[in-house]
Amino acid sequence: MNISRCLSLFVTLFIFTSSLPAQVFESKTFENGMVVSADKYASEIGNEILKQGGNAVDAAVAVQFALAVTLPRAGNIGGGGFMVIHLANGETAALDFREKAPTKATRDMYLRNGEFKSELSWEGILAVGVPGTVDGMIKALERYGKMPLDMVIQPAIKLAREGYVLSYSHAESLNDHRDTFRKYQASARYFTTGDTTLFSEGDLFVQKDLAGTLERIARFGREGFYAGPVADAIINEMERYKGLISYKDLYNYESKWRDLVEVDFRDYKLHIMPPPSSGSIAIAQILKMIQDYPIKEMGHNSAEYVHLLSEAMRRAFADRSFYLGDPDFVDIPLQRLLSQEYNTERMASFSPDKATASSSLSHGEIAGHPESDETTHFSIVDNEGNAVAVTTTLNGSFGSHVSVSGAGFLLNNEMDDFSAQPGEPNTYGLIGAEANAIEPGKRMLSSMSPAIVTKNGKVDMVIGAAGGPRIITATLQSFLNRALFDMRAQQATTFPRFHHQWLPDTIFIDDFGLSPDTQKLLEEKGHFIFPMPGIGRAHNIYIETDGSLSSGVDPRGDGYAAGH
Ligand code: DON
Repeated sequence: MNISRCLSLFVTLFIFTSSLPAQVFESKTFENGMVVSADKYASEIGNEILKQGGNAVDAAVAVQFALAVTLPRAGNIGGGGFMVIHLANGETAALDFREKAPTKATRDMYLRNGEFKSELSWEGILAVGVPGTVDGMIKALERYGKMPLDMVIQPAIKLAREGYVLSYSHAESLNDHRDTFRKYQASARYFTTGDTTLFSEGDLFVQKDLAGTLERIARFGREGFYAGPVADAIINEMERYKGLISYKDLYNYESKWRDLVEVDFRDYKLHIMPPPSSGSIAIAQILKMIQDYPIKEMGHNSAEYVHLLSEAMRRAFADRSFYLGDPDFVDIPLQRLLSQEYNTERMASFSPDKATASSSLSHGEIAGHPESDETTHFSIVDNEGNAVAVTTTLNGSFGSHVSVSGAGFLLNNEMDDFSAQPGEPNTYGLIGAEANAIEPGKRMLSSMSPAIVTKNGKVDMVIGAAGGPRIITATLQSFLNRALFDMRAQQATTFPRFHHQWLPDTIFIDDFGLSPDTQKLLEEKGHFIFPMPGIGRAHNIYIETDGSLSSGVDPRGDGYAAGH
């Protein structure tokens, strides 16, 4: 993929987020519990669960299922994601419910006559990974929830059965994708009006088949999805379009508890989702690369600040592309990547005056190591001080665009997150290497970075974002804006952001996010600047010194904070 295709894809993926912020600097503040998600229905459902005595994990499971109904472009049961938990008693946990490659997947499954066909990993049945969400939600609830599954899933079933009212942006996103939905029988039925008319704001959107599937999950747990009629329906879809997922792949899918990556920065400790999320390592590396510089004195979003951070981002993303992949399959040199010494060394080539050309920079050398646009984030805090951060996705908006006939849900296109052909950029322009090559049963590398930040052992921030690789840099800036610049919750989430990912060699900035003179100073150092409609969409909760909860709802999307 050349740079201009990659840039135009970035813009296409984010075009619908470009609506102007309604409430730029106002946070909501609550004392007893809060849910911040991309959708009003889902946030209110989560808040209701908290009010009924559920804890943050009960609420998270309810929100995940609600989003599968009210935000079909990203919320899902046909996809996957990550959950980070920090309990009031200090216990932490990370749950990986990322999709896996089917057993029949091969590294050249997207080659036709020797040529790499990137469209096959992005749309249609071959793009689909084995879904992890349902197993993940059940596992999280079993270990940490207080409520039974059928109770937390009930609000989602009701919304699917009785319908919900489409917002302007939901109607537009369905309409924008109608030509692709029409290519797939079940999607045409579920996600278009069925004739030449369009969906409008205010339409009631009913999903009876999805309600049936959610009911089966409520009744039979994971067997209600990975076996029986829902599994049959998924396999029918595989047969119809010649997909690779088998009954065994479905039945054997297992989400996994993993050890969090923890990184100290000034008075804070960040607890971030570990690999197969790349976000934890990249954020930790960037923080270690910048920490000895007078960052605060440079001034927020000054040319000097943007330059320093972009150079650190460039180096961390170069390492990401080479070293990171599914830890069950590749040997990630975690200790070295997270060491201060290594990251200080990585910055040895940094010049305050001049951009380092990405072409002159590769991954760092680690001796002895063998060669080897649509997501959604939500944050929850309950009245006991338990906190949960979840990022979940189908990958692109509406995933593969293939729906499961009779079961009412969309399947992901997560296979594109593998380096489908090592060395070739994926849809987000990310280059990967062997570590993230396709293998049967392997999880594809992700940028989703749900994170919980503590200060003196207490939860201080619950942060995360949607937006492909920009998730990493948006989450980093949601943290730094507060930790370094003492921004209020909404400010920390709203302020213009920037992003560098090594290749393409470009600083992406929020549209109108940097003044022309700042941009000029950066260009004089040798940077190429590319404005775009939104650098990630963050949904954050910040805990104030008096213990109250303040929302950071990203004006780049149409998120909502509900609390009590
Ligand atoms: O896991 C990942 O990194 C991607 N599948 C995330 C995709 C995404 O965030 C799309 N946009 N909003």
